[in-house]
Formats: sequence, C-alpha cells, structure tokens
Amino acid sequence: MYIVGGSASEKIAKDLCRELKASYVKKITKRFPDDELYIQILDNINKKHVIIIQTTYSDQKIVELFLLQNAVKEAGAKEITVVIPYFGYARQDTKFKEGEAISAKAMAELISLNADKIITVDPHKEHILKFFTKTSISCSAIPEIAKYLKNKKNIDMVLAPDKGALDRAKQASKIIKCDFDHMEKTRIDGATVQIKPKNLDARNKNVAIIDDIISTGGTMAKSIKELKKYGAKKVYAVCTHGLFADNADKKLMSAGCNEIISTDTIENKFSKVKIAPLIAQLIR
Ligand code: R5P
Repeated sequence: MYIVGGSASEKIAKDLCRELKASYVKKITKRFPDDELYIQILDNINKKHVIIIQTTYSDQKIVELFLLQNAVKEAGAKEITVVIPYFGYARQDTKFKEGEAISAKAMAELISLNADKIITVDPHKEHILKFFTKTSISCSAIPEIAKYLKNKKNIDMVLAPDKGALDRAKQASKIIKCDFDHMEKTRIDGATVQIKPKNLDARNKNVAIIDDIISTGGTMAKSIKELKKYGAKKVYAVCTHGLFADNADKKLMSAGCNEIISTDTIENKFSKVKIAPLIAQLIR
C-alpha cells in the first residue's frame, strides 16, 4: 500500500504510514511564478493501491487534491482511495435558497472523478456521502476524542451545543461514563447564533462541549457563557474539525473556556487527538 500526503494532511499521512506499514510516496510540489501548482510523483506506483490524504480546506488544498489524484492516476495506480480528514464545503449541503450551488455535491462529484473509494471523518451531515459517485464511507472521531477526555479523569458532563450534535455527545458520554445533555441553538446567519438557556444541572461540574466544527467559535462561546451562568467549574471546548476562523480561539478563552481540544483533521495548535488510528482501522 502506498500513501500520498497532501500539504494539508502530511502529518496524518505519515501517522497512517506507520499504522499500516505502508510506503510514503515521494513527490515534488512547487509553484510556478504565477502561483499555479505543480505536482510530480517520484516513486513507482504503477498497478499499486494508492491512498491520497488531503483535507479539502482551504480552496488551494482542493486544487492540490485534484492534481494529486490526476498525478496518481497518470502514474498507473490500480486503485485510488481518497481520504478527506475534513471535507470542506459540506455545510452547504442543500439549496437553502433558489439559485444557490449545492457546494457539497459539487465538490463530491469532482473528487469522485479520479477515485475508487472516498473516506471522510465526521462529515457535517451523513447524507453528503451520497453526493460522491464512488464508494464513500465515514468514520467518527468521537471514540478517540472521548478517550482523550476520559484520561483527564475529571469530566462530569458532555454537552451538545444543539440537538443535531446530541448523538455525538451521547456516544462520548458512554465512553467517558458521565452525563450528557444539549443546548438549544438557533442560527441567525453565518457568524451569529443564539443559544437559548435551558435548565441545566451544571453547578460545580466540569463540562466538555462537543461539536463537529468550531469555525467562528460563536456557537461554543455562547454555550460556554451559558454554562458559566449555570455555575460550571471547568469548561472544555471540543471539536473534530478546528477551523478557528476570525480569532475563534481568543473568543473561546475570553468566554471562560479552560481548554480547547480538536483532532488533527485540520492541523493546528489545538490538534491533540490523532485520527490516523481510526482511518487505519477502516482501511484494514
Ligand atoms: C453547525 O451546525 C455545526 O455543527 C457547528 O456548530 C458550526 O459549524 C460552528 O460554527 P461556529 O463556530 O461559527 O459557530
């Protein structure tokens, strides 16, 4: 098995090589003076099963993925599995208004062109998998996140910021062996959410709020503030995909967050939970 790591997911690619005892494919990646990207695969992957790993965030990484897929195909790979740790554009998964692009579908269809199988982690909604025109599967980062939280030995409650995230909170609470609950969220626009107070028993509790994505941090910051009003002791802001747009981390810390925890689907300074073991399990 051969693994090609895109620049958004090099660390995961190397972790996965260790997990699967696979070879890390050498390549040249450079930019032309006008900033266009150039990719060349250096190893012989003719008739091999090749796994390409690349998070599709931000836009330049998507173009890089397309070029990697093409280079691998042109190099004669027998089978191409594309692993997308964080599938960007997944939140626009339907036409909310007439005339809009269904971004998740547009991306999925293009990625499917040079792939035999697609694997992703905690997609925003599971139904986006059907937009891929090749076999597509997802895995959940929750077991690894829950293991990390369980090791803290102090989590009393797992909280979902909205009902949509309740299943994740419930799954994590089973592993940690603690309570779970959810808040009531209404999204006003891309950057504004309203978190409705709810009768929460959070007094003197250490609470981990778990969401799939932290983007602007608005959802988490509001939830943290609510929790603090209820007298929570320590509050952990936890997510699978840490985008941290718009100084989200600062927003969370000034809302009273004690620690920010994310996986490495998007590599950042809060990537404390590795997802390579989960992907390796799926591939095996
Ligand atoms: C939305 O449904 C997602 O699950 C997240 O709650 C959302 O993407 C977080 O965005 P933000 O950090 O901008 O509030």
